[in-house]
Amino acid sequence: MARYRIAWLPGDGIGRDVMEAARLVLDAIRFDADYRPGEIGWDLWCKEGNALPDRTLELLRQTDVCLFGAITSKPPDEAAQELDPAFRGKGLSYFSPIVRLRQEFNLHTNLRPCKAYPGNPLNFKDDIDLVVFRENTEGLYSGIEFHPVPEEVMGSFLKHSAKAKRFADVPRDQMAVTVRLLTRKGCESIVTQAFEYARKHGRRSVTLVEKPNVLRETSGFMVRIAREVAARYPEIAFSVTNIDAMCMWLIKNPENYDVLVTTNMFGDIISDLCAQLVGGLGFACSGNIGDGYAVFEPTHGSAPKYAGQYKVNPMAMCLTVRMMLEWLGESRSAGRLEDAITAVIREGEVRTYDMGGKSSTLDMAEAVARKL
Ligand code: NAI
Ligand code: MG
Repeated sequence: MARYRIAWLPGDGIGRDVMEAARLVLDAIRFDADYRPGEIGWDLWCKEGNALPDRTLELLRQTDVCLFGAITSKPPDEAAQELDPAFRGKGLSYFSPIVRLRQEFNLHTNLRPCKAYPGNPLNFKDDIDLVVFRENTEGLYSGIEFHPVPEEVMGSFLKHSAKAKRFADVPRDQMAVTVRLLTRKGCESIVTQAFEYARKHGRRSVTLVEKPNVLRETSGFMVRIAREVAARYPEIAFSVTNIDAMCMWLIKNPENYDVLVTTNMFGDIISDLCAQLVGGLGFACSGNIGDGYAVFEPTHGSAPKYAGQYKVNPMAMCLTVRMMLEWLGESRSAGRLEDAITAVIREGEVRTYDMGGKSSTLDMAEAVARKL
């Protein structure tokens, strides 16, 4: 019996190219795992009207962790057009399988380390080493949305909020509502994890990114909870910054920041910004982490125009594998992989197109494998 069972979900497009690269690297460290392939993504939606079938969910339940490539998503009208005619008119609607995975397995924490590896020509500045903790299942992405807005919903807004009066006469199909729902549990958990990470890795500071001056009830709630948590970690500096200002500061002085923590949508935004500071999508790795299960994925999508061409940068995926090893408790293997990645980037002999080179996806993965 292998030591670990890994759900292996390449998905669509370049998801498959980079998963091949991942396997090269895992084999080079002689990682003891049983890789169990599963299906997810656009092809499945087109063929069977479900981008995340029950058999894939079942597969995940029988494994220790999941490694995921990327999927293609398209807007509802295109989804309806590409669906196999046999499944049309049955009321099927497309949903994002990755958002569903996060909710189904309660993967409440999205972790995105963003480090400027020395020698990467795409670094915005040197010495950037940020980690973003994003709450992954609540906030504006809770999925509680209305269009048209039901009369009872609008009625209760009008009853409980003076601010709603301005909209009282707007026809209900001429408005849309998305609810930003935060729970104490969700807020406390994400902030605590950020502080625990800071403590464990000797980080100096944790910055909460919110907008409490405007979103008084939700951001205000998050800020109060974060202050309570911060009080338990006196050795770590804590501050609160507004999301808009933070976008400026991250461009101006990214090296001043350390661990960032925030709610779902703000985290979505700043983690892409931070990724671009350290080389963009070819370097952006992430983990969706729950209490006993996690799904690791590079943050890029399926990049259809490069699908199957082995052109894209596998470093995002290699760094994702490193995160997975760390989460599994394989710190030694994770450290070796980190060193190998660092060396390949520093030497700069093997570079994919985004880094200005001509090497292929697998050339780069093999260079990492050789260092191992
Ligand atoms: P994308 O991330 O797929 O690609 C955008 C561009 O970034 C590519 O054309 C390429 O120039 C560059 N790029 C992406 N990954 C790269 C890599 N590893 N190395 C070098 N360059 C890289 O985003 P796009 O084009 O907006 O979306 C394409 C499809 O992917 C859509 O259907 C979208 O819904 C889906 N998507 C899926 C995600 C996921 O599976 N988690 C995340 C983002 C988008
Ligand atoms: Mg995003």
